[in-house]
Amino acid sequence: MKIFLDTANITEIKKGLAFGVIDGVTTNPSLVAKEQREFIPLIKEITAAMPGPVSVEVTASKPEEMIAQAEKYAAIAANVVIKVPINLEGLQVVKALAGRGIKTNVTLIFSPSQALLAAKAGATYVSPFVGRIDDISGDGMALVEDIALIYDNYNIATEIIVASVRHPLHFVQAAKIGADVATIPFVTLAQLLNHPLTASGMERFLKDWQKVKP
Ligand code: G3P
Repeated sequence: MKIFLDTANITEIKKGLAFGVIDGVTTNPSLVAKEQREFIPLIKEITAAMPGPVSVEVTASKPEEMIAQAEKYAAIAANVVIKVPINLEGLQVVKALAGRGIKTNVTLIFSPSQALLAAKAGATYVSPFVGRIDDISGDGMALVEDIALIYDNYNIATEIIVASVRHPLHFVQAAKIGADVATIPFVTLAQLLNHPLTASGMERFLKDWQKVKP
């Protein structure tokens, strides 16, 4: 499973890259707003720091305006992937961008039917938001299972990005289902390494090592 960092924070991206296991970055308008920086220079910096795919979301509502935004963002760097919301206009945009060789990540996926239509339109990735479904007492991972089953049924190449990840269990469940990617906040990346038995085991080894004559 590929691991993307779900952030627009350049410090987190650089720290994440030091782990040696990060394959890409996903951003969205809310994550970008948190940075309080000019948008294009920020995306330039992220795409230069991260060798893998970087999702950048369009915010216009008319298809022709979304396509113009997408072309502008795609020209920033070869690793830009255009994030497009799932709706009628979004589907048209995904199809047009696929025809131009521009990769897309269809976002705000909350149902298997949305994921199937996004794939048929030519999406490179779909992003089911598992945490937001769990937040309203739904089962976010059941959605990922359904999408994976449907994509397997028809040998669909669109990759599933498990998004809106809230904790390490989401990450493990995504891997058990066989999702292509989990996009995770930096805090979750750090949590993935933690285990109290590893910490206490290290402590005991170091203490015992003091008794060994060099
Ligand atoms: O990038 C999209 C997604 O991961 C958002 O997560 O935590 O705002 O539901 P969240």
